[in-house]
Amino acid sequence: MKRMLSGIKPTGQLTLGNYIGALKNFVAYQDEYEMIAFIANLHCITVYQDPQELKKNLKDAVALYLACGLDPNKATVFLQTDVLEHAQLGFIMSCNTYMGELNRMTQFKDKQAKGETNLTAGLYTYPTLMSADILMYDADYVPVGEDQKQHVELCRDTAIRFNHKYGDTFKVPEPLVPKVGARIMSLSDPTKKMSKSDHGDKGCIYLLDDLNVARKKIMSAVTDSLAKVQFDPVNQPGISNLLQIHSSLSGVSIDDLVKQFENSGYGEFKKAVADVVCQELSKIQAAYKDVIASGQIEAVLEDGANKARRIASRKLSKIQRKIGIEIRKR
Ligand code: TYM
Repeated sequence: MKRMLSGIKPTGQLTLGNYIGALKNFVAYQDEYEMIAFIANLHCITVYQDPQELKKNLKDAVALYLACGLDPNKATVFLQTDVLEHAQLGFIMSCNTYMGELNRMTQFKDKQAKGETNLTAGLYTYPTLMSADILMYDADYVPVGEDQKQHVELCRDTAIRFNHKYGDTFKVPEPLVPKVGARIMSLSDPTKKMSKSDHGDKGCIYLLDDLNVARKKIMSAVTDSLAKVQFDPVNQPGISNLLQIHSSLSGVSIDDLVKQFENSGYGEFKKAVADVVCQELSKIQAAYKDVIASGQIEAVLEDGANKARRIASRKLSKIQRKIGIEIRKR
């Protein structure tokens, strides 16, 4: 069975973008692949987080993994910090990644371009930790949204270079980006990605949003004055975004949706999108309540960490022996 690995960093509540671009696909793939789905909590602290809020967001993220359908009997679900090997391999990967490569990472460049000051060294080097997360488990595939593809490509480049320097060590992973929904845009500015850092923004739907709030956000989504439902991300980014959201959740193709709504006004179309989103959120939220009530989170994390650690400790030892820094058998 091929192995798949991915993670989410809950720097806030999980969003509809996280769900459509990533989490929903982890669930869909768990029968066909050996799925490793972790919570990237070290990645969260590259930017300051309020500790109490962070703890709540981490717990909610685990609950949402399960509520969205990840089955801990099939998938390995764990917290990154429960497997100390990640940080150690992260340092090793940072010694095998060039600053020139990190300088090219668009996420960091964008933050720098916005004039944000006091960017941390951790934020700059975080793609090397992400490489470690992936390479530790010899993942064949990494399901991610569009914005993380560049980091998986960097991971591939470093893996190839490492294998060349030290001999065959890592499997070179492939990013898996969904055809529809790889980049869900903000509802209030459809030229920007929907993001959990837009806290309080009407542009972002959170998986735990009150259904009325979510519906309002969709009904007030920014569109255009062309008054035609069609898929044209350049000239109609708002409508195209809503088409993608509907299509990824309903499974109806974008072409069919365009046909279905060709004579509809935007109000009617938005209402249909809101119905589909609210139906999905209501299922997830009911399951989330059950997960929280069941008190199973601790046990799932412990079991997941044990499984992950078994793979990680063996792999790290092999890597360290290849590099020459481990001199006694563990
Ligand atoms: P993060 O937490 O920013 O995002 C988690 C996943 O959600 C996807 N995503 C989106 N997809 C579509 N539309 C959007 N608006 C949207 N917003 C987010 C992201 O592409 C991602 O797949 N560095 C990673 C976490 C990470 C990781 C890893 C991922 C750490 N180690 C190893 C894969 C493998 C991150 O910050 O994702």
